[in-house]
Amino acid sequence: MYEKILVLDFGGQYNQLIARRVRDHKVYAEILPYTTDIEEIKKNNYTGIIFTGGPNSVFDMASPHYTKEILSLGIPILGICYGCQLISWMADGVVETAEQSEYGKIELSIKKADSLIFKDIPEKSVVWMSHTDRIKQVPQGFEITASTDACPIAAMENAEKKIYAVQFHPEVTHSEFGSQMLKNFLYEVCKCKGDWEMDSFIDDTVKALREKIGDKKVILGLSGGVDSSVAAGLLSRAVGKQLTCVFVDQGLMRKNEGDFVEKTFTSLFDMNFIRVNCKDIFLEKLKGVTDPEEKRKIIGTEFYKVFWDEIKKQSDKGFFAQGTIYPDCIESGKGDADKIKTHHNKVKMPDDIEFLDVVEPLASLFKDEVRAVGEKLGIPKELVWRQPFPGPGLGVRIIGEITAEKIEILQNADWVLRDEMSKNGYEKNLAQFFCVLPGVSTVGVMGDHRTYDHLVAIRAVTTDDFMTADWAKIPYEILGKVSNRITNEVKHVNRVVYDITSKPPGTVEWE
Ligand code: XMP
Repeated sequence: MYEKILVLDFGGQYNQLIARRVRDHKVYAEILPYTTDIEEIKKNNYTGIIFTGGPNSVFDMASPHYTKEILSLGIPILGICYGCQLISWMADGVVETAEQSEYGKIELSIKKADSLIFKDIPEKSVVWMSHTDRIKQVPQGFEITASTDACPIAAMENAEKKIYAVQFHPEVTHSEFGSQMLKNFLYEVCKCKGDWEMDSFIDDTVKALREKIGDKKVILGLSGGVDSSVAAGLLSRAVGKQLTCVFVDQGLMRKNEGDFVEKTFTSLFDMNFIRVNCKDIFLEKLKGVTDPEEKRKIIGTEFYKVFWDEIKKQSDKGFFAQGTIYPDCIESGKGDADKIKTHHNKVKMPDDIEFLDVVEPLASLFKDEVRAVGEKLGIPKELVWRQPFPGPGLGVRIIGEITAEKIEILQNADWVLRDEMSKNGYEKNLAQFFCVLPGVSTVGVMGDHRTYDHLVAIRAVTTDDFMTADWAKIPYEILGKVSNRITNEVKHVNRVVYDITSKPPGTVEWE
């Protein structure tokens, strides 16, 4: 068994991020709520413990606290923000409420150059602060190791007892050397060996899934997106044919995508794969509809109707699996797992279907970790590195009424764009690129003939978070090549334009 770090959750918004940063350093981390009994902690042989931040004040007895005994277990401890104040409070130091909160990027001055936690870190660096309470006086046996202008005790330690505390957040990227500090805690203080990698996550998850599912059935809705594909890969490895994946193909996917998903999962993985082709039903429902919201509503409602109808046909339902990943779960704090709010990516279950339980094997992972698992499972790169694709598919990229002919034109134009981008090495550089069919016809000339055909728009953006985005500065030569190819190769398109709108004021999708 590999070494484990406990992230003791006091309700901070970054608790998952702390665990993730620890995993980045090849040490496994698990999160437990502050309500976990100390006996449970003693049993688990942790190599180190990290107290997370939290929104509360240690003076308030209703706030999360923990028994002092934890400080004398001999296990190295790192307290972050609230966790730092809590250590001081538990060890009889003095915590005070500052007149002014300290928030944002702040310059940290290291006072103890040979502190293990600050190994290989310059005397001055930027850290991320977000606090009102602060330590006024360190507990007996502790010394001050760093400060900022507004916070004289920004870090403290009791090296003998291996207890370290920092007022700032080393886990966020705004803290310049935060990753190094966590690494120092793991390798210099806890003396970790770094024996964990994604393979261990896969082995553990497969084992846990087998234990939970037993000999029962499990059903997963497969969209062809990264998350549900990786969840399918894991479940298939765990329970093989006990897994049934339902893939609803509404005919609004990119060219050949439905066939690609089917081929991938039926040839690479052991599972039951059900593809429901329902393009005609969708087209019928969407006939004459032009309003974007109305279209989205119809596509969403029909999708789930088809999906649940298919699932109702299964005689033995067992468990229901979802590819929910950590950013889909918003913690409401205090580490109580049952208080996780539901995000729109979570499926709402109809009242007349009963499952034994919901299984979410990726719920603790971030997107890039999910991709790493996907690659390890042997899922093709095209799926693992797939760009985001909206639930309503090409439905939000065809402006106005959706028809079979328009879907085909858009699929063909989009295929040319993807092909050119891939040939020019642009696939990995851009967050998202695709074609849009604005439903506009313009006059053109082909040979000696007048044409009156479709206009295609190209949309390509760079972004980190999709909340804001910039239009991508694709070289003219590549745009020219794409335009040439689309007008030559795609029937009924005689003009191509490039969308040079950022978000805001535009959105990434056109509808
Ligand atoms: P917008 O158009 O809002 O898009 O700037 C931001 C990101 O979200 C994707 N998107 C969707 N994803 N269901 C989804 O799962 C949807 O209805 C949807 N609409 C937009 C979009 O592709 C972009 O990545």
